[in-house]
Amino acid sequence: MTKTTKPRRMHLFSMPMGAGGHLAGWRHPGADAASLMTLGYWQKIAALSQQGCFDAMFIADSQGFRPIAGADAFSRTDAIRLDPLVLLGALSATTSGLGLIATISTSYNEPYAIARRLSTLDHLSDGRAGWNVVTSTSENEAHNFGRDSHFGHAERYERAEESIAVCRGLWDGWEDGAVLADAARGQFLDPARVNGLFHKGKHFSVAGPLTLGRSPQGHPLVVQAGASEQGLDLAARSADAVFTSHPTMDSCIAFYNDLKQRVAAAGRDPDSLRILTAIQPVPAGSDAEGQHEAEMMNDAIPVELGLSYLSTALGGIDFTGYDLDGPLPELPPSNASQGTRNRIIDMGKRGMKLGEIAIAIAATRTSRPLAGTATTIADELEKWFDAGACDGFVIAPPAMPVMLERFVESVVPELQKRGRVRTAYEGVTLRDNLGLPRPQSRYTADPSLRQEPEIWQRG
Ligand SMILES: Cc1cc2nc3c(=O)[nH]c(=O)nc-3n(C[C@H](O)[C@H](O)[C@H](O)COP(=O)(O)O)c2cc1C
Repeated sequence: MTKTTKPRRMHLFSMPMGAGGHLAGWRHPGADAASLMTLGYWQKIAALSQQGCFDAMFIADSQGFRPIAGADAFSRTDAIRLDPLVLLGALSATTSGLGLIATISTSYNEPYAIARRLSTLDHLSDGRAGWNVVTSTSENEAHNFGRDSHFGHAERYERAEESIAVCRGLWDGWEDGAVLADAARGQFLDPARVNGLFHKGKHFSVAGPLTLGRSPQGHPLVVQAGASEQGLDLAARSADAVFTSHPTMDSCIAFYNDLKQRVAAAGRDPDSLRILTAIQPVPAGSDAEGQHEAEMMNDAIPVELGLSYLSTALGGIDFTGYDLDGPLPELPPSNASQGTRNRIIDMGKRGMKLGEIAIAIAATRTSRPLAGTATTIADELEKWFDAGACDGFVIAPPAMPVMLERFVESVVPELQKRGRVRTAYEGVTLRDNLGLPRPQSRYTADPSLRQEPEIWQRG
């Protein structure tokens, strides 16, 4: 018997940020910043992602303003962020096949509320919900949630880990078969299959159970994007997918191998985690046109805005008085994202000047720029994928809807022609499409663990 091996396919996620991930992308003639707060705009973005048979669309978030330096405020479309779960709830009604991933911070949300909302979205979408677990980096978020300052890096990762554990415990609480809805016998649920959690940890105390039954995916997909040591270890222990960003293929390969080893060291199958790296595509009729368009967008970022963004990314360093054509100055430690800080230091080491770094960070944020024809872009994606740099890509269009439209209408068909991405959804749930199994409830797997919820403990 001949063994047929299925070709390894790339996974694609869209990451629509406002009217574009590029700080000046909203000024592109094909961007529609005026519609950012309308359902119609997001329905269009979701429909495009589904047309491209993307595994998922993921909504980035921050529950407060990133610091905005004075006069630069007027050009910041990232000041607008709709609540991802409310938005995805609405989009679940007009999409199918497409995974719906919400960014939710474990620093400023209680895990019971997170688990309940995600489980609701998983039910409403027939198993397409996902959670991008973030720990928040902006001080303004702290000020919006009753704190004078943000949690320290180590503490916020402790909370993240405990929060994920609580959510997974709550999602297991209702076993398959717990909802009987047996009208004839008058038995709505089987109490033996509904379990309390009784979690008492360092940061959270949660009795459980949830107020809704086990969702189609068992556990909504858990995604992580932290790049610090703590972030990577957390991902290795508990994530189903990881978003990352790398300027070079070699650094992405090293990251991929390191993370897969950490997953194995955590006692998990390395194939149980999907790693996706973010790109910012500018598909165009020719490579030169694509480069030109990318440069035009970069030129539209005032250098003060770039510096303001760089300062924010580094936890508030004041760059006034520094020479823009000079090297990146020595950076003090910061409480902001360590992954982003390392990327900036790396740019400095590669000889980029302060002004160039500021524009590059503001332009691409968490993604690698990639301009050119559909063939050029598809070649580059194939090269990284075949070299073992990733399991797929996060597509972060710099201007929207225009660049997402171009990607879906030109790059996706090129990748489909090469057999690198799907032409139709194979599965119903996000886990199905990612080739990840549906977790079994811990209580079904081992009934000796079952524990009655406090609400019906008798005597
Ligand atoms: C592709 C990508 C998307 C991200 N999206 C968000 C986001 O929407 N909100 C957020 O607060 N952080 C986001 N991040 C940042 C990380 O989730 C993480 O919280 C941050 O890097 C701090 O963790 P670290 O110190 O471990 O790097 C993103 C990172 C990447 C690479």
